Amino acid sequence: MTTGGAARGRIGILISGRGSNMLSIARACREGRIPADVALVISNLPDAPGLERAAALGIETLVIEKRGAGRREHDMKVVAALRAARVDLVCLAGYMRLLSADFIREFPGRILNIHPGLLPAFPGLHAQRQAVEYGVRWSGATVHFVDEGLDSGPIVLQAAVPVEPGDTEETLSARILDEEHRLYPEAVRLYFEGRLRIEGRKVRITG
Ligand code: GRF
Repeated sequence: MTTGGAARGRIGILISGRGSNMLSIARACREGRIPADVALVISNLPDAPGLERAAALGIETLVIEKRGAGRREHDMKVVAALRAARVDLVCLAGYMRLLSADFIREFPGRILNIHPGLLPAFPGLHAQRQAVEYGVRWSGATVHFVDEGLDSGPIVLQAAVPVEPGDTEETLSARILDEEHRLYPEAVRLYFEGRLRIEGRKVRITG
């Protein structure tokens, strides 16, 4: 299937925390590097610092807490908000929840995530800590389409960074984060240029 290709797209971003990747995408849109706009930022946590940062850019924000709701029920509220905002692409940016199959079905081939590691190594939480503790020489960042597994969807872009002797989780995270801020807007740009083709497990970049 071919992805993207819309004239001027609309992006919905899901966050749970500081929102630095959300900002990197929003800035790239503003600066004309991505032919799309961030239409809506949703957090599942009311105190996510990214909410204020998005609002400061004039982006509409929404808090949809899970509270007592089941996963599907919560997801469907998020889907309804994304639909109401007419988003073409959903970007997970530090969203600390696994999406249900029903959510994913609503946006086939239209959900991206960024992971602070070189997938398929070290999926899940604390990828940077896992990398330091394991003793790998290289780590990095991965942007991938989201499927029902944990950080397991088709890979769009990866960037490697060295793990230096003496690195801690914090120092490695900072080095990876710089790459994340470059990589995620680049992947979103390719998406809206209609240049990402999902072929089974692989993503072909055309043009
Ligand atoms: C990033 O490291 C991202 O790769 C991971 O969660 C972190 C989110 O950071 N999924 P931020 O909220 O974008 O600053």
